[in-house]
Amino acid sequence: MTVSKFPSGFSWGVATAAYQIEGAAREDGRGPSIWDTFSHFPGNVHKGHTGDVACDHYHRYREDIDLIGSLGVDAYRFSIAWPRVQPLGRGAWNDKGLDFYDRLVDRLLEKGLRPHATLYHWDLPQGLQDIGGWATRETAQRFADYAEVMGKRLGDRVTAIATHNEPWCTAVLGHGIGQFAPGARDFQLAAQVSHHLLLSHGLAMQAMRAAGVKAQLGIVLNQSSTTPATDSQADRDMAEREYATFVRWFMDPIFLKRYPKAPGLDIYPVVRENDFEVIAQPLDFLGINYYTRIWASSAKPPVPAPKLMGENDMGWEIYPQGLTELLLKVNADYKLPPVYITENGMANADVLEGNQVNDQPRIEYVRTHLEALRAAIAAGVDVRGYFYWSLLDNYEWNSGYDKRFGLVHVDYETQKRTPKASAHWYRDFIAANR
Ligand code: FCB
Repeated sequence: MTVSKFPSGFSWGVATAAYQIEGAAREDGRGPSIWDTFSHFPGNVHKGHTGDVACDHYHRYREDIDLIGSLGVDAYRFSIAWPRVQPLGRGAWNDKGLDFYDRLVDRLLEKGLRPHATLYHWDLPQGLQDIGGWATRETAQRFADYAEVMGKRLGDRVTAIATHNEPWCTAVLGHGIGQFAPGARDFQLAAQVSHHLLLSHGLAMQAMRAAGVKAQLGIVLNQSSTTPATDSQADRDMAEREYATFVRWFMDPIFLKRYPKAPGLDIYPVVRENDFEVIAQPLDFLGINYYTRIWASSAKPPVPAPKLMGENDMGWEIYPQGLTELLLKVNADYKLPPVYITENGMANADVLEGNQVNDQPRIEYVRTHLEALRAAIAAGVDVRGYFYWSLLDNYEWNSGYDKRFGLVHVDYETQKRTPKASAHWYRDFIAANR
């Protein structure tokens, strides 16, 4: 425990997302989402894995909340499956779905855990995709309607509501390179989708504020520091462009009412008058998800990243100081609201042996990233909490169940949960740093 204490009131949590853990994909009136469609289409996901059952959390949420309590954390970040509460994404609401999130939130509060809800973690109702999905502006209005209903329903009991999780992934991975649902491959479309996502965020913020929602309202963005591989102009330009498309693309509209410019960046969406006024709503918090840095090499073949601290099981470089670099940079570039680190974590090739998982690399990952976070806080960035991704091993999107990010191991045959060494370490770290 070499790291000095974190600010008083700092929140310690774990994070999950609906499609990755809930399962019960066809139960109690839930409608299909684009991830049901995408995951069932042959060739899209590693070994054809789907979220049909996942961690069966829909049926096991009580035990899972007990598990969260046993980690010694004080906050839990989860997402609401839009098609569970509004099966077609417009029109009728599903009481059984709404009741599920009521029970989840009440149970968290009973256990003294602060609920942090996310409205959109990628599972768009297929009914909306069928009429255009995020490619159409109307979907932004549907999202605002959904936000208003959920805000009214849960806003007096949850600590925070985030509109979107990582809109970059929805836009670029979902519509640019087709790795995620709905699997489109068109960068002009991805740019337009990103604009509709931002617009939907602004409209949802307005709708929830107008409804008097008391919870802290904000958005969650995935961000990275960026390093040019060499000092060449080409590499520096590339680094600037990558940073602009990854970080500034979402930060500039929200904080500066414009899209960024960068060398070679030439795809922009159609923007209507007044859109930036809608997008740039004041935030109560900004959620930042940090996993790795971006390494920019324009050479062919590219100069590889040095990976001095190794890589995770996804092949992502482990680079904790990138978290400090990133936080200091965004804090200098924008007038930030309080920040939560809403995701940070590591996929590791864990093995369960004699009811134990000795995941030392994960402990080292979290320890070094918390040190990097501590350094950013010491340098003046207002960070109010940290959520480890993830509570459980779960459905890692197009990687299926093969990549394990959890503090708790899941045996998908039996659904048995086994806290890993990192879970015990995290509990002790939190206790020592409160
Ligand atoms: C983030 C996602 C989350 C999880 C982690 C590993 O991009 O928000 O759902 O897949 O990566």
